[in-house]
Order: sequence, then C-alpha cells, then structure tokens
Amino acid sequence: MRNNTKLPVENFRTEEVSMLLDMFLILHLHVLVIASSSSTEEDGSSERDAEHSKGSSHQHHWGYHDQDAWLSAFEHCSGKAQSPINIDTHKVFYEPKLPPIKLEGFDLTGSPALTLINNGHTLQLSLPSSMRIMRGFDHVYVAAQLHFHWGTKEIPGSEHIIDHVHFPAEIHVVHYNSKYADLIEAGSKADGLAVLGGFIGIGLHDNDNYEKILSALTDISIEESDTEIPGFNVRHLLPDSLDRFYRYSGSLTTPPCFQTVSWTVFNDSIRVSRRQLAALEDTLKTEHNKLLSKNFRAPQLLHGRKVLASFHTESSTGKAREAPAPETQDNKIMESSGHILAIIFGVLFAVTLLVFSMYTYRQQKNYSKLKKDSKLNVVYKPAAIEKDMDQTTVTVT
Ligand SMILES: *[C@@H]1O[C@H](CO)[C@@H](O)[C@H](O)[C@H]1NC(C)=O
Ligand SMILES: [Zn+2]
Repeated sequence: MRNNTKLPVENFRTEEVSMLLDMFLILHLHVLVIASSSSTEEDGSSERDAEHSKGSSHQHHWGYHDQDAWLSAFEHCSGKAQSPINIDTHKVFYEPKLPPIKLEGFDLTGSPALTLINNGHTLQLSLPSSMRIMRGFDHVYVAAQLHFHWGTKEIPGSEHIIDHVHFPAEIHVVHYNSKYADLIEAGSKADGLAVLGGFIGIGLHDNDNYEKILSALTDISIEESDTEIPGFNVRHLLPDSLDRFYRYSGSLTTPPCFQTVSWTVFNDSIRVSRRQLAALEDTLKTEHNKLLSKNFRAPQLLHGRKVLASFHTESSTGKAREAPAPETQDNKIMESSGHILAIIFGVLFAVTLLVFSMYTYRQQKNYSKLKKDSKLNVVYKPAAIEKDMDQTTVTVT
C-alpha cells in the first residue's frame, strides 16, 4: 500500500528532473554551437583576406549576378567603407551644420548635345565640366556623368535602401574634386568623388525631363552603343528639394569599388510613370543579348560609419548632440552576442539552481521518510547537533 502511493510521486519527480537535465544539456550545447560558429566566421574572413592578398589578377569581366566574385578580383570591394548601404532612418544623426548643396551650370541648352551610352552595365549620360557643385563640400566638384540602377517589374532596383526597402530605381550624378585633372585621376583619391543619389519611384504622369533620356533608349539597346541627345536642364532629373539629404562616406558601387565617394542621398524621391520605368527595365541589352536589368549592388555593411541627415527625421530629432559616439557595427554585434551569452548563462544558472534545489528537496523528503521508516534519527541525533551549534553560537558572541 505504502509503495503504491509513493511510486507515482517519485516517478513524476524523476521525469521532471531528467527533463530539466535535458534542458540544461541543450543549453550547454547551444553555447558550444555559438562558440564554434563564431570561430568559423573568423576562419571564413581570414580565408577571404588571403584571397585578396593573392591579388587582383582578372579584372576584365564583372557582372551583377555574382557579386561575391568582385571580392576576389577587386581588392577594394571588400573594404570597410563600401556602398551602397541600408539607411536606417532610426539611426541617422541629424547634423544641422551640413551645408546645403548648391549646383551651377545644370541648366544646359539644346547644344552641345550630350552622349548617351549603353555600356553593358548601365545607361550613362556624359556631362560637361561646366556643371558643378559649388557649395556643400570643402571643394568644388565637377560633373562627369550620370547613370541609373534599376530592377525588373517584380524586383525594385535602387542601390541604397531606406529601412531595408528598395525604390524601383536610382539616379547617380557623379562629380570629381576640381583639384584633380579628371574623373580617372580623382577616382582613387580619398576626397576624389561626390555622387548625388536620387530615388526614382512611380507616379501617375510621364516625367517630361526623364523622357528626354528614355525616348532615346531604343537607339542604344545593343551593348556598347551610344547616341546623342540635345542638352536639357539636368537639375530637373533630381528631386524638387535638395535640402533634405543623407550624407556618408562610401565607395563606387561597381568595381573597382574605390572608397573615395562622399555620398549624398536625397530624401525626396523623383517620380516617373509606370510606362517610363518599364522602358528603362525592358529595353537595354547586355552581353549575349541578355536584358540589362537588376544592375544594383547588394547593400554593404556600415562598419561603424555614421550616416548624417541634413534634416530632422522623426527618430533622429535632437540625437546629434545627445547621442554618444556611435558604436561600430562590430561592437554592436559583439554587444548583442554578449547579451545573448549573458541570458544563456543566466538561464543555465537558474536551471542549475532549480535542479539542485529539487535534488536537495528530494533528498530531504527521502531522508525524512527514512527517518520515519527506519528510525535513523537515533543514529543522527539531530537534537544533539542543534545543541552543539547553539553552544558554538554562544561562544562566538
Ligand atoms: C524622408 O524622410 C521622412 C521623414 O523622416 C521618412 O519617413 C522617409 O522615409 C524619408 N524618405 C527617404 C527616401 O529617405
Ligand atoms: Zn551608380
């Protein structure tokens, strides 16, 4: 009778304890997995570094389909200040001292004509050196060319993304520092380039300014073909307001990925019609007569870079002065994995404590049962011990 009532209780306890022990083991395994995965990450990156040092032997062909191949063929592409990036509007720093952009000479007349080229990677318009950024940077920057990045009807193809969201397309107006002779010379200099980036979205109406470029697309559908278009007001390809923009230090978004670009990405977007966007997406051909589309690079890690905003975003308001020095991406990863480890060890500790206290509880139960059943209390003489302890206490005090 006694055994029958006791056994289920004990079975339950054993099951629970073994379950907790299992949890304990699983958590330990998790810690091991985390530790080993972080060490494989390190191995991976050192492998990549080794590939880089092997050199940039085959720099001739690159494409958007295999962007990982850029890393081994072009040493700069694996740098820590690459573009494009995701712009997290909750993490940008409002910087009221960012000087506004002042453009000059963008209002071109019909002649001279401008050269529009399909170079197999993008649609590019050559710009005259009379077009300049007069204010906004420490030097005057001279315009060289503008080009576009786009996707397909299904896949939006802007390079920069806002809170991880792509726009359908993006325009880049490339300028070089006037203290250098030309784009080539400036391209590899730290303060060499300034690119203005604008997001292109879909609106209800045709954009007459964009039509000046897009209407010529059918003439250059074959790779490496070009045509001439009359000059026009290039300022109208950019958003209405140039006052609201993000600023950060980055790179060319194509090989050789030189980290020499001061990026300005405008907050206001540009609108073209659905038909116009479709013309951009569906007309140009690249090598092997394939459609030239999805010519955008994947977003790159910030590696501690700061993204400044010339305007108050809801979330960045007042942050510039209050915020402590920004943490690096690496620090953040370390910090968050530190938090995770802390939580895991906390749970492990709690579980250990629980298992231990259940164990002692059971021991005590067993002990008191034994006490009752086999009168072991005579051997233990707890009363005597208590008395001894009382005495000890007295002597100490
Ligand atoms: C422009 O700024 C507003 C307000 O902060 C923000 O909600 C929006 O996402 C921004 N758009 C772009 C393209 O940066
Ligand atoms: Zn570009």
